[in-house]
Amino acid sequence: MLAEIADVGRDPVRGGYSRPVFSSGERTLVDWFTDAATRRGLDLTVDRNGIVWAWWNPAGAPLQDAVVTGSHLDSVPGGGAFDGPLGVASALRAVDVLQARGVQPARPLAVAVFPEEEGSRYGVACLGSRLLSGVLEPERALALTDADGVTYAQSLTAAGLDPAAIGRDDETLGRIGTFVELHVEQGRGLIDLDAPVAVGAAILGHGRWRISITGQGNHAGTTLMADRRDPLLVAAEVVVAVRRIAGRHPGARATVGRIQPVPGGTNVIASRVDLWLDARHVDDLVTAAVVAEITAAAQGAAAIEGCAVEVRQESLSPTVDLDPQLGARMARTLGGAPVLDTGAGHDAGVLAARVPSAMLFVRNPTGISHSPEETVEDVDADRGALALADVLADLLADGAPAERP
Ligand code: GLV
Ligand code: MN
Ligand code: MN
Repeated sequence: MLAEIADVGRDPVRGGYSRPVFSSGERTLVDWFTDAATRRGLDLTVDRNGIVWAWWNPAGAPLQDAVVTGSHLDSVPGGGAFDGPLGVASALRAVDVLQARGVQPARPLAVAVFPEEEGSRYGVACLGSRLLSGVLEPERALALTDADGVTYAQSLTAAGLDPAAIGRDDETLGRIGTFVELHVEQGRGLIDLDAPVAVGAAILGHGRWRISITGQGNHAGTTLMADRRDPLLVAAEVVVAVRRIAGRHPGARATVGRIQPVPGGTNVIASRVDLWLDARHVDDLVTAAVVAEITAAAQGAAAIEGCAVEVRQESLSPTVDLDPQLGARMARTLGGAPVLDTGAGHDAGVLAARVPSAMLFVRNPTGISHSPEETVEDVDADRGALALADVLADLLADGAPAERP
């Protein structure tokens, strides 16, 4: 199935795939999903927040207490082939397996595709699930802009969605009895365990901050070194401080993966530099301490160079424990699959606040993700999809939905 979409959204410059939300690449994948789900006899709906749902409800029962699986089809810039699409393709494959087994679900089953999971276009990760569950105010989402100044409201309209309708959707949330997201593992956990599939446990707390440093734009040839107020110099010191400060806090991860000098010319001293900090730790207080120390380091470096600094939080997600009972049940269903934490964010982590949520991870033999080197072997992809089918079959056979958080 993934071979069918292997050429969609390839990035000839960065390598790998660039499939930002509402780009032609991501929309082509959504169409691919819609066609594939329709061919399986599933009923397609798109909710107010642009989440695409494919329903299988042979009993014709009301759409509630559904077992929901799925993932996302957007990518980071220059990302791998599996982050997101593996969960969607595995969900469809699991439906095939259940249909071939003659399963008649006692509860509805749905496959969901969430928009802007990566936050690579609009800066806030898991935008669709945040809006659905009400953790993000619609006004804030609508005003977000991409690198070209296109607002989220404009993107929604272009995709045929109504910006005025987005926001917390209790009716849709009320339909979800259980959510299980399958995902490529994004680290070395399963390599070290020598196992193909694991059940997810905790998702590391994480946030994003925009650090804007303002100096004096000027001419590269005529401005003497002593006369400069160069924000790029401060940005360089911030990048080094991020590594140093995170290294002082065991378990912390802090990254500057994006930096943008304005106006960005070879013979121009920048007038402003924006850089984005991604910081994570299992203890949300440590994340806050790391960011406070980085902010202080940025202010110190800016003062020496005669620049100004502004630090703005763009998103924050606390550490989440996925549903432990559901996880234990899944591990039993899978004959004692290992249980793993993850440092990556997921829609399952956002939904966990409102519905019992769980994850399955599939081995990634490179241990690399958010990069073209991310990979999954066919045999493991198959094991993952079969594990998902077994988990879904177990949940579907159970008339009693799990207790909501
Ligand atoms: C999403 O993959 C994230 O963890 O940033
Ligand atoms: Mn993902
Ligand atoms: Mn990702």
